[in-house]
Amino acid sequence: MNKEEKKGKNIEGFFYIDTYGCQMNEHDSEKLAGVLKEKGYKSINNIEKADVIILNTCCIRENAEVKVHGKIGYLKQYKRENPELIIGVCGCMMQQEGMAKKIKDMHPHVDIVFGTHNIHEFSSLLESAKEESETLIDIWGEKEGLIPNLPTKRETDHKAWVTIIYGCNNFCTYCIVPYVRGREKSRSVMDIVNEIKELASDGVKEITLLGQNVNSYGRDLDKEIDFANLLERLDQIKGIERIRYMTSHPRDFTTKLVKTIADSDKVCEHFHLPVQSGSSRILKKMNRGYTQKEYLTLVEEIRKYIPQAAITTDFIVGFPGETEEDFVETIKIVKEVEFDMAYTFKYSQRSGTPAAKMEEQIDEEIKQNRLQKLMDIQSNISAQKNKKLIGKTVEVLGDGESKNNADRQTGRTRTNKIVVFNSDKDLTGKLINVKINKASSWTLNGDLVR
Ligand code: SAH
Ligand code: SF4
Ligand code: F3S
Repeated sequence: MNKEEKKGKNIEGFFYIDTYGCQMNEHDSEKLAGVLKEKGYKSINNIEKADVIILNTCCIRENAEVKVHGKIGYLKQYKRENPELIIGVCGCMMQQEGMAKKIKDMHPHVDIVFGTHNIHEFSSLLESAKEESETLIDIWGEKEGLIPNLPTKRETDHKAWVTIIYGCNNFCTYCIVPYVRGREKSRSVMDIVNEIKELASDGVKEITLLGQNVNSYGRDLDKEIDFANLLERLDQIKGIERIRYMTSHPRDFTTKLVKTIADSDKVCEHFHLPVQSGSSRILKKMNRGYTQKEYLTLVEEIRKYIPQAAITTDFIVGFPGETEEDFVETIKIVKEVEFDMAYTFKYSQRSGTPAAKMEEQIDEEIKQNRLQKLMDIQSNISAQKNKKLIGKTVEVLGDGESKNNADRQTGRTRTNKIVVFNSDKDLTGKLINVKINKASSWTLNGDLVR
């Protein structure tokens, strides 16, 4: 389609957004998509046909950055074929000192570079880029106030992300997030409630509240309100069936919060509580603010009030100074808690963070060995836990066709486990009951209960 043809159809062109990293970035991409849609662009799955390509980047670990550089380099050929193509690069990686300039020097075919604090400037940057041949760089430091609400083009109709708090104040010594996403800023209760009510009236069934540390919610607000109060309020919104949140910090998970979740109807029985290490010595060096014992007490408390709860976690192996004894403590906590699932990472040095300068950085080979060992043990535990569900009937919210198997449908339990089941009807957004007949580490299989 040439430009004239597109004008006739009132289409500016097609856009493709490639998103790296966590749900914060996924949600920001939905906002960028919303802006593009308002301008008349349409989304396209084939990157080669796009008129606007955006890479929304992550820098949590080194390999995330390597992937982005590779992808930007790869896009050069498309720019050669279509000089009117606009390439934008944004996200957390761009907030690192010197990175925007590095992108401009290394990849002059990039048209716009912007950051996490000014995504609301995207629309005007796009217009300027059409007139400009050089790379436009616009990175903001942190400003007072919140990013204004933007139109959002959501990925699904039945589930939605809702940001409740931006940024992070925790400064875990390994982590880059506080430097690229700024300090904690809570949205007002009214803003959040209004957004969710609107989502409910659009037919959304499940919301996931987003924040790097959701249980810090409200600390920066004048009003006396905390995360537990917010959940109580949101539990009453009609039409919403399930409420999830991520991520919560074990240090700030109070008994009051556990009880609120136990008493609520909609807040799901899934606790993602990143532990990072089982060794209290390493936890201290990481600045996590809890010991192994405190973490285990929290797990005990959750299981006391919500026995059916699923508990998942994140681990980092090979943090500077981690000895074999420390790693044994990690294995110990894995076996003791019996997590339903764990994301496991090798420590990655992030420049500007305190841990990057610590002595006793661990050899890659040791990190790899520890990672493998941890993954093997956890994968067995996940399989055993899931097998306990065989023969049980679980409530599933349908997500639509299974990616690997077009004649099967998929969905998730309240405990966030993926379930694949037979159905000749599309059950996206429907709450159904499924009887589990097979289970592995990652998925459950079952039959629809009619
Ligand atoms: N705010 C969330 C997690 C954000 S990052 C929390 O506090 O739990 C997601 C996960 O990436 C972290 O839980 C941690 O396990 C991992 N991670 C963060 N920085 C890392 C680094 N430098 N190297 C390896 N893994 C890291
Ligand atoms: Fe990073 Fe820690 Fe903040 Fe999570 S809580 S984003 S790991 S600094
Ligand atoms: Fe990555 Fe930024 Fe998320 S660094 S993990 S995309 S907050």
